Amino acid sequence: MLESKSITQLCKIVKPLLSWYRKNARRLPWRENTDPYRVWVSEIMLQQTRVAAVIPYFLRFMEQLPSVEALANAPWDQLTKLWEGLGYYSRAKNLQKAARVICEKYGGIFPDRYEEILSLAGVGPYTAGAVASISFEQPTPAVDGNVLRVISRLLEWDADFSRGAEKKQVAHLLAEIYPEGQCGAFTQALMELGAVVCTPGTAPRCTACPLQEHCCACAHKTQASFPVIPPKKPRKREDKTIFLLHCGDRIAVRQRDAAGLLGGLWEFPNAEGHLDADAAEAWLWGHETKAGKITKIAPKKHIFTHIEWHMDCYLVLCENTSPAFTWVTKGELEEKISLPTAFQKFSGELAL
Ligand code: ADE
Ligand code: SF4
Repeated sequence: MLESKSITQLCKIVKPLLSWYRKNARRLPWRENTDPYRVWVSEIMLQQTRVAAVIPYFLRFMEQLPSVEALANAPWDQLTKLWEGLGYYSRAKNLQKAARVICEKYGGIFPDRYEEILSLAGVGPYTAGAVASISFEQPTPAVDGNVLRVISRLLEWDADFSRGAEKKQVAHLLAEIYPEGQCGAFTQALMELGAVVCTPGTAPRCTACPLQEHCCACAHKTQASFPVIPPKKPRKREDKTIFLLHCGDRIAVRQRDAAGLLGGLWEFPNAEGHLDADAAEAWLWGHETKAGKITKIAPKKHIFTHIEWHMDCYLVLCENTSPAFTWVTKGELEEKISLPTAFQKFSGELAL
């Protein structure tokens, strides 16, 4: 990678990209102003979730928790309810942790230095770069998948960008060309181009692209080969058995351990592995549950980033409400309990 040559080439994209962005930026709720709280929350939501899906969550979040202080003081139940369906709950946990630090350490004022923002829970170089540039006009690139795709195509740069070191190189290059006074617009313009023009897959919309004449991949028709995708590690498979325990108008749930996957959220009682009928009965006995009718229902699968759950399921009519669980009505389950999507997949099977 010839750095000075790349910088010369990239310098040329600044003007056309900014003027394209001014004319074509989508109106999105987090672009209404540059309040760092709004920018931060939106960037955290957008990390693993699509724009269209984030919008209603973002609006509801801002309505209920309009400030760092409100977030810091929010009951955990309210926060999980606001996050329900977005997934990756550790993001919500980290948001609140960071909000509390901002209140305690910075008097509730969002810190404006890159390093301070980076030190907050759940904030990596991408998010810190986004907030520092969008809210505080600093030349700090925010290198996400969209930006990597644009840059790798512009320069026909064939590195494996899943590696931190390569991402850092992109950030260093970009920092050199950030336009003073328009840092926020430039960050968003790069992302926006990647999201709506230089799209993933084999057919980016090069004819609509303001950077066409500066783009190596377009010149050589190699767009589909960039960015280079490294081979994926296979996901870890975990077998589970879910129990839909009913007693009268109540259903059993329990809270997961605070640590680990879906920590602190609620779940239907479940066991590791696929239990056959005998093993399932033994499990019920072990949880002080006297079972009446037991019906096996269709298995379901849920895919997380690195793990997939293969879930067998028994629907059980119980004769007692075992103290091992919390027994809730259907209404409570829907209104008060944060049930991750993996378990919600069984909600349609409830005999309530
Ligand atoms: N994806 C990540 N950040 C974004 C932003 N600020 N606007 C639109 N899409 C995004
Ligand atoms: Fe992407 Fe095509 Fe624009 Fe190059 S010309 S940046 S490949 S959309």
